[in-house]
Amino acid sequence: MAIERTFSIIKPDAVAKNNIGAIYNRFETAGLKIIASKMVHLSKEQAEGFYAEHSERPFFGALVAFMTSGPIMVQALEGENAVLAHRDILGATDPADAASGTIRADFAESIDENAAHGSDSVASAEREVAYFFSTEELCPRTR
Ligand code: PPS
Repeated sequence: MAIERTFSIIKPDAVAKNNIGAIYNRFETAGLKIIASKMVHLSKEQAEGFYAEHSERPFFGALVAFMTSGPIMVQALEGENAVLAHRDILGATDPADAASGTIRADFAESIDENAAHGSDSVASAEREVAYFFSTEELCPRTR
């Protein structure tokens, strides 16, 4: 099994509901190790840059408004097949379609406020981790 890194966001809705610790517990229970973490309140420019690949989609403005509406937690996670393992515990993008026991099923209300983000590939993870963290801020686990 490959040890990978992935990037995670706990979005403004889940932070506002005090669900940071509960969601971190899901990561750790799944064997994902937090190797960097911080709380940030995105500017419009930061959110637009992060989601640039979706800039032509009809919900882009709503997504940027939501992601700048309050603080978020950003994390780099490490573990076996971390990208897919993280996506699995997140559940489907729309919480209405998310399997029971997944983060979005348990903590999200709607597709436009869906509690958490996870990288969709190793390449995206590298870009997204680097968007928020310098190399010096990453603390790879040796045990
Ligand atoms: S995914 O998970 O990237 O495959 O999902 P996708 O459908 O491509 O959506 C990309 C991101 O846009 C968010 N999204 C929305 N925001 C607001 N309103 C609507 N209707 C909507 N639909 C999708 C979705 O949560 C994805 O955000 P991230 O942060 O990548 O999970």
